[in-house]
Amino acid sequence: MKQMIINGNHELTGNILIGGAKNSAVALIPASILANGKSIIKQVPNISDRDALIDILNILNCEVKLNADELEIDTVNLKNTLIDEAHSKKLRASYYFMGALLGKEKYVEIFIPGGCNIGARPIDIHIDGFKALGAEVKIEGNKYILKADKLIGTDIYLRFQSVGATINLMFASVLAEGKTVIHNAAKEAEIENIADYLISMGANIEGAGTDEITIYGVNKLEGGKITVLPDRIEAGTYIILGALVGKNMCIKNIIPKHIEALTNKLKDMGSNIKIAKDYVMISKVDNLKPTNIKTLVYPGFPTDIGQPMSVLLTQANGTSLFEETIWENRMGHVPSLNKMGANIKVKGMTSMTIGPSKLHGEEVVATDLRGGAALVLAGLTAEGTTIINDVEHILRGYENIDEKLRNVGAKIEIKEI
Ligand code: EPZ
Repeated sequence: MKQMIINGNHELTGNILIGGAKNSAVALIPASILANGKSIIKQVPNISDRDALIDILNILNCEVKLNADELEIDTVNLKNTLIDEAHSKKLRASYYFMGALLGKEKYVEIFIPGGCNIGARPIDIHIDGFKALGAEVKIEGNKYILKADKLIGTDIYLRFQSVGATINLMFASVLAEGKTVIHNAAKEAEIENIADYLISMGANIEGAGTDEITIYGVNKLEGGKITVLPDRIEAGTYIILGALVGKNMCIKNIIPKHIEALTNKLKDMGSNIKIAKDYVMISKVDNLKPTNIKTLVYPGFPTDIGQPMSVLLTQANGTSLFEETIWENRMGHVPSLNKMGANIKVKGMTSMTIGPSKLHGEEVVATDLRGGAALVLAGLTAEGTTIINDVEHILRGYENIDEKLRNVGAKIEIKEI
């Protein structure tokens, strides 16, 4: 088990370089098996979810070479179509092998995926889409068996703009016969990045990044090439840190448009923020104004930045209201923040924060990835020492977090206990 120890309340200054987006990389890696041959993915973040997906590629008999942040995946010897329960359960994104293996091999056996405990996380929209394409789906206990003689393009209407289902259905339809249209598709920036990868393999996809994606099936895909887009959630997390304790903190390698919902909120709150072409410079101000936030699908305020943002609300002068609309259980970090001195009241998926509160160091537990990141921000803001247990949750999605933070002056270390 890993523990993070933070000595907080120090001004942070300097540069933080953002890596490739976790939520794109975890789909791009499984997408590689749709190709016949060698694919290259650049700017792959150094996170434990990456390693869990590489393990699955090895189980499927793919050859994988990792060289710094570049991944080379050769699928010519792909032969297995069963992913055991231990590997399926390691992360949420294992379910992208459903669409990818179904698309390529017309057969997959896989178990219920794992991931953060932030809600029930059903996969009915994915399954309904696979069935619409002609797949037969059997569920035996925790195992899903998906098979098809052939997949045939069709119109698929998603009842919710699910990121995962949109991606999985692109995977299942790129090699299907004929035309598939995904209606009410998710529009998250990652989806365009993933479509670009498939297009580099020879897929025929139009409209990714809008709510209607059209896929014309092709017979075969060749090896592809892509650079993972910068992680807008990692960027958002460090930008919020800059607003908490930064002095000219510069967050580099970002696409400002992808984080506009956050930067607009920060401007409304009176932050000292400068947005340039590919970086944001931010410093702490006194007298931050309170605000109200409601998470929404892209381009709304991202649910994944809600927990880090909850720390900033504790420092605003007055009452802020927060409403989560995507996940039922995204307040798991609040008891820890309150233990550290925050004044946050939770009711279902909403919370009310009265600030400003002086935070102090405590021993706390990361309950999930973004909730864990929120505790890191709180620890860096708090007076004294904060100990965060179960740091593995954080390392699933933030690459070299301790090193990146030490580079801007944070007193932070991770140790094995
Ligand atoms: C992706 O999850 C991200 N994960 C999540 O990030 C992110 O919070 C979420 O998109 C929304 O932006 C990955 O990319 C690996 P959804 P995903 O399908 O695809 C319901 C993080 O912290 N739903 O868009 O699983 C679901 O319960 C993680 O990095 C169904 O009901 O999200 C939820 O309420 C956490 N049935 C809503 O839709 C389904 O079949 C959105 O889910 C699928 C989803």
